[in-house]
Amino acid sequence: MTPGVRPLIAGNWKMHGTLREAAALAEGVRAGAAASRAELLICPPFPHLVPVAGALGDGVGLGGQDCHAAARGAHTGDVAAAMLRDVGATYVILGHSERRADHGEADALVRAKAEAALAAGLVPIVCVGESEAQRLAGAAEAVVTGQLDGSLPDGFAAAGGVVAYEPVWAIGTGRTPTEAEIAAIHAAIRANLEGRFGEAGAGLRILYGGSVKPGNAKGILALPHVDGALVGGASLVAADFLAIAAGVPDAA
Ligand code: PGA
Repeated sequence: MTPGVRPLIAGNWKMHGTLREAAALAEGVRAGAAASRAELLICPPFPHLVPVAGALGDGVGLGGQDCHAAARGAHTGDVAAAMLRDVGATYVILGHSERRADHGEADALVRAKAEAALAAGLVPIVCVGESEAQRLAGAAEAVVTGQLDGSLPDGFAAAGGVVAYEPVWAIGTGRTPTEAEIAAIHAAIRANLEGRFGEAGAGLRILYGGSVKPGNAKGILALPHVDGALVGGASLVAADFLAIAAGVPDAA
């Protein structure tokens, strides 16, 4: 944890669930939210944003999983940042490795989307992370800092932007880096943020994501410069998501 920073535990529901399941899951998260020391955030699929917001209540934040770089226009199938804000979202996940892989999103587009998010009053959660081949080649830190340089807009720190470090090979696989490896990359991300944004970069939250579970959350969340988690699979079970949130250190 970074001293003085409130941890953020974000659930990324990806493309899972029926409306009925989403509502039940949100109710489950709501039921345990008051006990959490961490800030809780749920990012449901677009069609579920409004009903999930209602089921979550005021104690849990709402976020989108992506937005378009343009404010509006003829972009079939896309969603504008202002639309997310309009339905109650305050965060948006951008540059997730699944977007980068499935939709060919490169750093410049992620940066343009983050600018659109900031313009709409959303806090961007910008995801970075190396592939397995890049890690094996010893390039993890260089890849991640390069993604930060290319993906973060200038207004990122002033808006309290969030970085999520998600090694691609750890997402949905049940595999995670060692705690020492996570700490090393988070320290490099912190140095990059401070180098770019000065004092403001010292207080930005850096989340870890990739196979976070109740069993490994506590150790990961105790590491320096780990200020929360971005949780995929385990966020689809309310008790698991809440157990992960319960793993934030007492001092936080
Ligand atoms: P996972 O996904 O927790 O299922 O590994 C994390 C993410 O992609 O955000």
